[in-house]
Amino acid sequence: MFEFKDLYQSADWKKEKHVPVIELSGKIGKDSNVSIKVSVGKEIQHPNTTAHHIRWVEVYFLPDGEKFPYEIGRAEFTSHGESAQGTDTSAVYSHPEAVLNLKTEKPGVVLSSSYCNIHGLWQSSKEIK
Ligand code: FE2
Repeated sequence: MFEFKDLYQSADWKKEKHVPVIELSGKIGKDSNVSIKVSVGKEIQHPNTTAHHIRWVEVYFLPDGEKFPYEIGRAEFTSHGESAQGTDTSAVYSHPEAVLNLKTEKPGVVLSSSYCNIHGLWQSSKEIK
């Protein structure tokens, strides 16, 4: 059986422009937030045209020792140069970067996925300690 996991690609984000880059700041605890910045194309810029662009990123958190992930949020990037004059004519392009905040008292793993409209699904993860 073909599974969802077979669709997700991963690689080093410094060499592959589709991989979501996860940057964490802040700390775990009752009274603090962990800030999760996710971007695509930090090292090698991904094209951003009407025909070829990053559509969305999603972020999940899996606390250590748990089975089910928590969806933290999702950002959609919905302007890619289109206008009434045609493709790549508006000069307005959503940039594939989003910041989400999470409060947790448990360490765990942040997972992110991204979707390129022609190169599919990509993933990466980073530990929160
Ligand atoms: Fe792509």
